[in-house]
Amino acid sequence: MTKIGADHAAVKTAAAPLPDPALAGVYDEVERYYTGKVLAHGATPLGADWTCQPTQELRFIQLLKLCDFSQAFSLNDVGCGYGALAGFLARRHRNAKVDYLGMDLSQAMIEQARLRQAANIRTRFVAGTSIPRVADYSVASGIFNVKLTQHADRWQLFVEKTLSEINQTSRLGFAVNFLAPQPENFQSITELYRTPAEVWVQYCELQFNTRVELVRGYGMNEFTLLVTR
Ligand SMILES: C[S@@+](CC[C@H](N)C(=O)[O-])C[C@H]1O[C@@H](n2cnc3c(N)ncnc32)[C@H](O)[C@@H]1O
Repeated sequence: MTKIGADHAAVKTAAAPLPDPALAGVYDEVERYYTGKVLAHGATPLGADWTCQPTQELRFIQLLKLCDFSQAFSLNDVGCGYGALAGFLARRHRNAKVDYLGMDLSQAMIEQARLRQAANIRTRFVAGTSIPRVADYSVASGIFNVKLTQHADRWQLFVEKTLSEINQTSRLGFAVNFLAPQPENFQSITELYRTPAEVWVQYCELQFNTRVELVRGYGMNEFTLLVTR
């Protein structure tokens, strides 16, 4: 496990790799979309494109099944939005020793996160397209759901590239969620990315040589992958 604060210097000094040029358009469109949401709705679930706090936090509960709270650990929150998970940890896991780093594509999200979590001393936030440090665990909630106008192949590449970076920057494991396909008679919204769980379970097992636990049936048409070494 990481000593709390051990990666502090690394966050400040690591040179961020340049974004993959093939994905520049994806990052731009996603960043504009979420910046628009947080500017319109502020640091609220709607501002992160969620419908309400209970379901936002139900996702956190699934993702955090990854972590061993009996020990200190470092955590990267990839696509942290306005830092709701940091607030949730402070409320629900008050005694846990978590060295938290949130990163997001949207500078406006990061500004909101810094404002809201200013008193939370083990919490830092960074804006950018790359993950600036290695942590014990990483979580990512909702980052693959809204593909907007991106072609399916390009979105697939975005998911693969992002998962690969998350894997490389997670010592013990990572957790990520996806929207599941709608039943046949439901109309799908084309801007959303829905995927069968098996696609990404197999991808993580084969590409990263990891064990994957599939969590579903928590009341939403979604699933969470808990990926460990
Ligand atoms: C649906 S919001 C969820 C925010 C937060 N995880 C939560 O649950 O409250 C998704 C966030 O992920 C960010 N995002 C999407 N793809 C990302 C990436 N590859 N790297 C960093 N941030 C990303 C977006 O800017 C947005 O703020």
